[in-house]
Amino acid sequence: MGYKMCVWMLLAMAAVVAGAPAVDSIESPQYTVIHAESDFEIRLYRASTWISTPVEDISFSKATQLGFHKLFQYIQGANVNNSRVQMTTPVLTGIVPSAGPFCSSAFAIRFYVPNKYQDDPPMPLIDSDLTVENWDEKCIAARPFTGFAKDSNVAKEAAALEASLQKTQWANITDNEPKDGEDAYTIAQYSSPFKILGRVNEVWVSFPSSEGCRAAFLQTKAGRVVS
Ligand SMILES: *[C@@H]1O[C@H](CO)[C@@H](O)[C@H](O)[C@H]1NC(C)=O
Ligand SMILES: *[C@@H]1O[C@H](CO)[C@@H](O)[C@H](O)[C@H]1NC(C)=O
Repeated sequence: MGYKMCVWMLLAMAAVVAGAPAVDSIESPQYTVIHAESDFEIRLYRASTWISTPVEDISFSKATQLGFHKLFQYIQGANVNNSRVQMTTPVLTGIVPSAGPFCSSAFAIRFYVPNKYQDDPPMPLIDSDLTVENWDEKCIAARPFTGFAKDSNVAKEAAALEASLQKTQWANITDNEPKDGEDAYTIAQYSSPFKILGRVNEVWVSFPSSEGCRAAFLQTKAGRVVS
């Protein structure tokens, strides 16, 4: 089944399960905005649970498609518990550039586990290549961009985020080069592939620790909770 068909079906399913409008009812990980600039935000994400699958490929788009296809099967009930799971956003593609042979990169495609399953997600089937990831609280810089996320623009968006960060007190986000196998950056996609205008994507870079975020949060108490 094609990626477009999958996402369309998911959105249709979500609408049936939760009642329209589908978009408002789709769950996302919760965070607090610690700091906002015109073109990026620093966010403190709550601890969260994700289902992740690795893909090696030369193409961001291809890898995302392959990974999402596996996640889609899990969502549809191909898990140990035979549980159908509602769609959430965003779908994440973590990128470790050119890690493999022939300039292929290592990608990790991730699905946010719906709130009711956060503490006990349906277990991935053995040999499904899916793993449950438990994230600690995370400090993330996020830069929004519109249009389709694709091979020709994702690295540029990441570079733009890094350039913006360099001019601020948050420059230290990039002090530590990602360790071997760690994502250099992540693309977060919120829109269905059928949406042409007003597509919502973000590029994310994570701080090595959430300490800076937490300290700034406690200092300013300026954060607001976004769900
Ligand atoms: C899935 O099945 C396992 C093993 O039977 C069980 O421990 C777990 O609680 C179940 N999880 C859900 C979400 O049903
Ligand atoms: C990075 O900068 C922030 C904001 O100034 C600060 O709170 C944090 O401690 C710094 N982190 C590191 C690892 O230097």
